[in-house]
Amino acid sequence: MTRILGISGSLRRGSFNTSLLRTAADLMPAGSELVIATIENIPLYNADVEAQGIPQAVSDLKKQVIEAKGLLIATPEYNNSVPGVLKNTIDWLTRPATDIKIVFAGRPVAIMGASPGGFGTILSQNAWLPILRTLQTRPWFGGRMMVSRAGTVFDANGVLIDEAIKKQLQQFVQGFVQFVNEH
Ligand code: FNR
Repeated sequence: MTRILGISGSLRRGSFNTSLLRTAADLMPAGSELVIATIENIPLYNADVEAQGIPQAVSDLKKQVIEAKGLLIATPEYNNSVPGVLKNTIDWLTRPATDIKIVFAGRPVAIMGASPGGFGTILSQNAWLPILRTLQTRPWFGGRMMVSRAGTVFDANGVLIDEAIKKQLQQFVQGFVQFVNEH
């Protein structure tokens, strides 16, 4: 079983990005699964807190990342860049820095995102690239998933109601799982 870990960069209950991730979990190809992690309990990064030990929520998430074969990030776009809560989470996962090797280096990562605006998080997705490079991940560039006008793509319950986008998402996760299995 190819296990992918999904992380949404939004804490919002009605998050489009979390809904996108949940839909992706339902569309995973046979022989694979998408487990969705939570970043709810990750504290704000503070070196003084780190000096007392890595917080349990951070250690737990790190373990989930390490045990998965790949990482699927659903990112909102904030002010044309990455959302702070998700950057904060990734920063914690890189501590201590000696762990970057086991948590991130060589790990397949795919980025997708949803926005109520017209550009589907393209600038946020681009802004993740230098971070993924710094962490020596193996980003997948075989597909793109930028959901714009998310307010019309999901219904009030977060169900993806746009069939064309659903098909695109299915192809996206299929392509990523194939990439993960080949590496
Ligand atoms: C936004 N939003 C936004 N959207 C976008 O497409 N480009 C942007 O630069 C921004 N900037 C931005 C800044 C801040 C501080 C907030 C709070 C919001 C809107 C954003 O896409 C919208 O709130 C999404 O619904 C966030 O994703 P979730 O929570 O639905 O997953």
